[in-house]
This record gives sequence, C-alpha cells and structure tokens, in this order.
Amino acid sequence: MLNSKINDIREKFLHEFKIAKDAKQIENLKIKYLGKKGLVQELMLFLKDATSEERPLLGKLINDLKQEITSHLENSIKRIALEEENSKVQNEYLDVTLPGRKHFWGKSHPVSLVLNKMIDIANSMGFSTETGPEVESDFYNFEALNFSKDHPARDMQDTFYITDDLLLRTHTSNIQVRVMEKFKPPIRCLAPGKCFRNENISSRSHVFFHQIELFYIDEHVTFSDLFATLDEFWFKLFNKKVETRYRPSYFPFVEPGVEADIKCFICSGQGCKVCKNSGWLEVVGAGMIHPNVLKAGGIDPEKYSGYAAGLGVERLAMLMYGINDIRMFTENDMRFLEQFSL
Ligand code: PHE
Repeated sequence: MLNSKINDIREKFLHEFKIAKDAKQIENLKIKYLGKKGLVQELMLFLKDATSEERPLLGKLINDLKQEITSHLENSIKRIALEEENSKVQNEYLDVTLPGRKHFWGKSHPVSLVLNKMIDIANSMGFSTETGPEVESDFYNFEALNFSKDHPARDMQDTFYITDDLLLRTHTSNIQVRVMEKFKPPIRCLAPGKCFRNENISSRSHVFFHQIELFYIDEHVTFSDLFATLDEFWFKLFNKKVETRYRPSYFPFVEPGVEADIKCFICSGQGCKVCKNSGWLEVVGAGMIHPNVLKAGGIDPEKYSGYAAGLGVERLAMLMYGINDIRMFTENDMRFLEQFSL
C-alpha cells in the first residue's frame, strides 16, 4: 500500500521534473516534494500505520526517494546556474581589440573663423569692439547717416522694413552714430555684425551677410590714416603684403568715398575665376566721415574728422578659402563646414 504510494510519488515527481523549464519551477518542485509539508514528508506520516517489521524497509524506501529527488533537483539547480552564467558571459562579451568609435568634434563656421580673426586683428591695432541692434530704426541706419527720407541712395540698399520706422539693418554703419552718442573722441571702434538686404540670392549675393565696420574719429584724421590702417589690416589678415587700389565711390555718409580693391592673391593679378579675370578684388567701402554724420552724433566737425570703412566678411572668407558660392555658408552641409581652420 505505502509501497505503491512511494512509487506513485516518484513517478509524479519524475514527470513534473521532466517538464520543469526554469529555476523558478525547480524551486517550486523542491517545496512541493521536499518541503516541511511536502509530499515526501506526508509519506512519513503513513509509516506509523505500518507493522514494525515493515517499518525499517519502508523508511528506507522513503529515504531513498527523498535522496533521489534531492539529487535530481540539486543537479538541475547547478545546471541552470551554469547555463545562466554562460549566457551572461556570452551576452556581455567585450572585444577589447575593437577600434574606438570616432567622436564628432564641432568646428567653427568659416565665417566665424574669418570674423574672429578680423576682430582680433582690429583689437590688436587699438580698435575696441562695439555692437548695435540688428533690428534698427530708420534714424540710425539711414537718416543720421545723411540719407534723407527720399534720398535716391536708399535704393542702393534694398531694405527689409518691419514698420515705416523699423527695419533690419542693411549695414554695420548703423553703429557709427550710436557710438558717437556714447563716447567722446578720440574714438577708435570696430563693430561686427549681421546685415540684411532684400536682394536676389545668387552665388555672389545673399539676403544675409556679415560686415565689420572700422572707424576712427580724432583731431586731424586724414585719408592717409585710412589707407595706412587698411594696408596694415590686410597684411595681418593675409600674412603677406598685398597691393591695394582705391577707386572713388559714393556713400552719403562719407565724403570723399572710395571702394578698395586688393590685387587678387589667387592669380597675383593675372586674372582668374575668383577675380572675374580683372586681377583685382573689391573688398571694402570706405571714406572720410561726412560732417553731417559727425553732427548727428554730437561731434563738432570743425574740430574733429574721421574715417570709416565697411568690410564684407563673407567676401573675404570666400577669397581666403577659394569658395565660389556664398550660398554654401548657409546650407549647413557638414561636408563643407568640416573643412575649415585658420
Ligand atoms: N556701409 C557701406 C556698405 O554697406 C560700406 C561703407 C562703410 C562705406 C563705411 C563707407 C564707409 O556698403
């Protein structure tokens, strides 16, 4: 009777053990069969009904069953632990001989590189940096610079108007009178910034670009101060002496006014694509500050004079790096942007 019970439990166990899949199920089997209130322990209770002759044999059979179950379960627990360990090693395998991943390091935009270099040079020549607003009043951008309301020269700079009186500045010359209102001469100032013009976008012009304004106001400032300063500036920017040429030009806020060309350093004046075969590159508008502008800034034109120059940053960056399309600067093509250093 008890004998067959023992065998039933063995078979039941072997069946359940066979289909147990994981550590959790093995653990449950252990509780079910070997626990304090488990099936093997239950068998012990039946021993008291056995005769005293049968009892030792039955006790041994129950003990054998207990050992059999224990060894099955323990082997299985060991096997599962080993498998888990192996799969962990497999999953966390680290190949220390793999080459490192390349990190992306940001680079400065070519316009920033050239702009910063120009600022450094001007600072080193005694010009201190001032800035002004990109959204500007008609007064500082035009009126104070000797452009009256219906002055035809306003057409030279197609303007983005926000209201009748507010606009996106068309040049960094807007900073001139702002600085004159703030400081007394001598003033030696550099003003970098973004400018905007409502022009057709092409390979040579854009609605958005950068300028640096250089101006100097003191007693007895002359045209030759302007030339000498610009020559020195080009020398520092290009690291060599470049030949310059000044042509008369017109801007309402200077008198006389000039445009400056430098001899094309790509073809040494022989003519190439960059200088459109002329041998010369136009890089700056400049001149002696008009007395009306000094007056607008509260400076006595009888006592003081000054020069001003506006340098196009994209233009110079294009020349320095041999870039032939201004649109490249704003297209955010990483293959283009990653190439530059100074
Ligand atoms: N502001 C002028 C322009 O944008 C350049 C300039 C600056 C000319 C200073 C003369 C003096 O074209």
